[in-house]
This record gives sequence, structure tokens and C-alpha cells, in this order.
Amino acid sequence: MSYNLRNRSLLALKDYEPDAIRFLLDLAVELKRSKAVGNEIPRLKGKNIALIFEKPSTRTRCAFEVAMHDQGGHVTCLDAGSSQLGHKESLKDTARVLARFYDGIEYRGFHQTIVEELARYANVPIWNGLTDEAHPTQILADLMTMQEFGEKPLHQLSFCYLGDASFNMGRSLLVGGTQMGMDVRLCSPASLQPPAELVTEMRALARKTGARITLESDPLKAVVGADFLYTDVWVSMGEDDSVWQQRIDQLMPYQVTTALMQATGNPRTRFMHCLPAMHSADTEIGRQVQEKYGLSEIEVTDEVFESDASVVFTQAENRLHTIKAVLVATLA
Ligand code: CP
Ligand code: NVA
Repeated sequence: MSYNLRNRSLLALKDYEPDAIRFLLDLAVELKRSKAVGNEIPRLKGKNIALIFEKPSTRTRCAFEVAMHDQGGHVTCLDAGSSQLGHKESLKDTARVLARFYDGIEYRGFHQTIVEELARYANVPIWNGLTDEAHPTQILADLMTMQEFGEKPLHQLSFCYLGDASFNMGRSLLVGGTQMGMDVRLCSPASLQPPAELVTEMRALARKTGARITLESDPLKAVVGADFLYTDVWVSMGEDDSVWQQRIDQLMPYQVTTALMQATGNPRTRFMHCLPAMHSADTEIGRQVQEKYGLSEIEVTDEVFESDASVVFTQAENRLHTIKAVLVATLA
């Protein structure tokens, strides 16, 4: 399948037609294979892109950098600490300057309105590398991974996302899963569901794509038969540390444990996580949370994270191939 995405921004997956997503997934598979066998064609020679990070990143930044290098192009990374961005120069002005230098700009930051403003003022493609509301490049990798491990078309697969479904990951998985016609289950307390308008919009879209959308607060009901259990951190980047206690109180029943994996009744259920994950106290934040709340495993147990059912590192690798597909499709 071919689809013309040249010069298009990727601000939210919602803006892309299901066929555009399928095209990107096919392209990512092709790029993954060509890299593996060493016959990748560099299609971005002479192209330069800028990456702006107002929040930290490992996977997204490295995926954009390696994708660009593999394709023969160049990258500049900017953050608030090492540029004029934010403190001395508005985003609007920065966007207009960068658009004169670069062929495209990736932005990771806070509100979706910021990435939308960037797209209004920069006449080059803008790619959303995560906002509070959306993480579209992550979802492309997630869909690719589900396709790989599910061994069936996406519309025949089910996933259950457990935890905070009100933030970027819950919302974007709802969108991506609905667009692909999947069995989409979001399992969280009522107060941590995606905004009602988004759910209504996705239910309307589901009537066209054949998706089934379930919002369920009981994990034991939500996971039955699921092909994938997916979770994310309980406190996201940019949220205040003061919400930890409340989130632990609300979300402990949603922790992905071996018992919950077994409760699917499906011996082939895989575990997914966008990463970074709090599965042990081996990190600075992990240690702080352990000292303060007495918990060393948060949204997923170490046992599940390290189990054979866990596909998190292939999922992380697929960030590279899917981001490369976005770059090739929008720039080449
Ligand atoms: N999953 C993800 O976006 O990871 P990073 O924060 O490391 O980019
Ligand atoms: N919800 C997480 C996702 C990280 C990839 C965050 O925004 O921090």
C-alpha cells in the first residue's frame, strides 16, 4: 500500500487516516528488515532535523537520531538549558527560525497546544515526541510490536491498558487501537479515564473501523482473553510528586502481576510497557518511592517485567523503525 505523507506533520495520531497508519507500519517493517540484512537505502541525504526536548528522553531522542543517521541525514538536539528556547525566545519565534534551517522539527514538551503552535508557525513537518495529551510515535511502535507478536491482523487482536488512562499513553492507545479496529480495553478507576469527549469521539470512529472499546474498572474482568497487557508509569513527567500517594492508593489494584497475567486465561498474553518502567528500586526515583511509600515495584512487578511474556525491549527497538518510517514518509 502506498500513501503520500510528504510534508505532513504528526501532531496526534487522530489526524492520520487508518490507511496512513497502516502505510507507516508496513514501511517500518520494510525498514527494520533492510537494516537487519544491511541493504538499507539512505533516503534522507542532505536533510537536517532539529529535536527539541523540554522533558527528558532516552528512546525517542535516540530513535530520531539513529533513524536520521541510518538514512544519511543530520540532527541537532536542543533543550531549554542549552538554547534560548522559552526563557529568552518564544516558541513562535524559535519555530520560524528553525524552519529556515531545518527540514523538520521534533518537539517533546507539555501541552498539545504548544506542538500545535509550533506547527502553525513552522512551515516544515513537526513531529510530536510526547506531550501530556499524546505520544503518537510511541503508539506506532506499539502497533508494530502487537502485529509482530500477535501474529494476526491488528483488528483481530485485543489489548488491555491498565493504570492511569487519563494521560498521554491511555489516550493515545485508545486512539491508535480504535483506528486499527482493535479490541481496546482501558482499565482504570473512573477518575483516571481519558476525557469523556475523546471517548465519545473514539466510540463514533469505532463504528466505522469495527473497534470495540471497553472502559472497565475491574482488572479481573478487563483482562479476560487479552493478547496484550500494557501499563505505564503511575506518575508522568511534569506531574507533581505530591500525587504519588494518591496514585498508589488508586492504582495498586491495577499493578501488572503474574496473577493478573494468568487471569487473562490466555497462555500467550504478552506484557508491554512504553518504558521507562518502575519494576524495581534500582533507580533514583525508584529508591525515593521505596523510602517514602515502602514499595519497590510500582505499575508492574519485576517478575512480569523480566518474564518471557515481556516484549518491552522489542517494543523499544520498534521506536527506531517506526520513527524512521515517519521521517522517510514525511521528508523523503
Ligand atoms: N517511551 C519513551 O518515550 O521513552 P523516552 O522517554 O525515553 O523517550
Ligand atoms: N506517561 C509517561 C510516558 C513516558 C514515555 C510520561 O509522560 O512520563
